[in-house]
Amino acid sequence: MAYSEKVIDHYTHPRNVGTLDKAKKNVGTGLVGAPECGDVMRLQIEVDDNHVITDAKFKTFGCGSAIASSSLATEWLKGKTVDQAMEIDNMDIVEELALPPVKIHCSVLAEDAIKSAINDYRVKNGLEPIQLEKSH
Ligand code: FES
Ligand code: FES
Repeated sequence: MAYSEKVIDHYTHPRNVGTLDKAKKNVGTGLVGAPECGDVMRLQIEVDDNHVITDAKFKTFGCGSAIASSSLATEWLKGKTVDQAMEIDNMDIVEELALPPVKIHCSVLAEDAIKSAINDYRVKNGLEPIQLEKSH
């Protein structure tokens, strides 16, 4: 399969690989897996008092598109408010990375990871988790 240049760029130079301290109250952790292929993605956000995401990290055990999707997601997350981050749609990732149809589920994994990190943050801070309509 031919990967787009942007996928190759993120795959060979992934941004924000790493781990945030999940014991911290202002850190949300999302851990999701893709039943299609068994790939696993962990994505974390660190949030300040104004609900702005100041840091984001990921670790993905998966295909190139999943790594690129999560790398891109962490770039997009930084500087957004938690509410703005909820708006990130997997199809934005598909478009940005020019993912082919068989790789769309890799971007869904990234969207799920974002939302699950946000919900972890919300629950830790006494907020209701957001009901998710899409699922991998
Ligand atoms: Fe698992 Fe993508 S199918 S690596
Ligand atoms: Fe499964 Fe990419 S092939 S996440």
